[in-house]
Amino acid sequence: MAASALLPFLTADAAEQPAADAAAKKLYDTRCIRCHEHHDITVYDDMAWKRLLWKMKDKARLDNEEYGDLSDYLKSVREAARRSRTTR
Ligand code: HEC
Repeated sequence: MAASALLPFLTADAAEQPAADAAAKKLYDTRCIRCHEHHDITVYDDMAWKRLLWKMKDKARLDNEEYGDLSDYLKSVREAARRSRTTR
């Protein structure tokens, strides 16, 4: 799947993210890998993520603020992927 080709762009973008995103990424890299490996963020659309993250919120024991931050972070990753896809 072509998604792995997008990774250099994603990491480049992530390096420029503000502090809130860095905190959310840390959440993502600690809480979301307790039960399974990371899934490819970009294969799920906005609706799918909304449903999914709601399900994972309890599993990862996220409070409302963490849920909001993570939701924003995942959205910014998807948007970065979308941008790099359309600018090439
Ligand atoms: C307590 C264990 C647990 C934690 C913590 C957890 N997950 Fe999951 N996750 C699961 C299980 C079990 C499934 C597969 C069954 C399901 O869909 O409910 C799953 C499935 C998924 C899927 C694939 C769903 C699909 O249908 O393709 C994604 C994406 C995902 N998790 C993301 C996350 C994210 C993001 C976090 C952190 C907020 C997280 N998970 C934390 C247990 C967990």
